[in-house]
Amino acid sequence: MREVEVRIRALEDTDIGDITTLDERLAGAYRPDVWERRIGYYLRRDPETSTVAEADGKVVGFMLGEVRSGEFGLEEPTGWIEVLGVDPDYRGNAIGRRLAERVLASFDSLGAKTVRTLVDEEMTGIGEFFTALGFEAATLRPFVKRL
Ligand SMILES: CC(C)(COP(=O)(O)OP(=O)(O)OC[C@H]1O[C@@H](n2cnc3c(N)ncnc32)[C@H](O)[C@@H]1OP(=O)(O)O)[C@@H](O)C(=O)NCCC(=O)NCCS
Repeated sequence: MREVEVRIRALEDTDIGDITTLDERLAGAYRPDVWERRIGYYLRRDPETSTVAEADGKVVGFMLGEVRSGEFGLEEPTGWIEVLGVDPDYRGNAIGRRLAERVLASFDSLGAKTVRTLVDEEMTGIGEFFTALGFEAATLRPFVKRL
């Protein structure tokens, strides 16, 4: 595998186009409005935490999240990792790990005591990724009802 030079940095609003393109590859849908709204939300809430990886002049990975308290009866400040993705052509280069290191350091500096995320077990690889990063399965279980 070739050496990839990767820069890890804070999310910026000019990343909307690259993240929309990357998401289109991952999810198979072109959703510029969704990403404009979502990235705007994270930048307004906390311009430092959400993180991207840049390589070969484009965004090849992103991790969005924020610190919140009081959700689901969890009073302690919790860092929530909400969306992540690494370009399939760049996986296996520790980009996901480096994104998480920056996001978790930011959560820590904001006073979070725990970091949480939700993983759909039907999506292969994501649970293994978080396990490799030291995450453990939690007792908090999602319940769903169709409307
Ligand atoms: C999960 C994901 C972020 C991993 O990105 P990555 O840059 O390839 O991961 P890294 O190279 O940093 O791997 C970190 C660790 O996780 C492990 N890991 C990563 N992907 C794995 C997989 N598919 N299976 C098993 N282990 C995996 C690696 O082996 C590595 O462990 P190590 O450091 O102990 O060797 C990436 O595969 C991805 O974007 N998946 C799709 C995400 C998605 O669909 N998002 C939309 C919904 S939120």
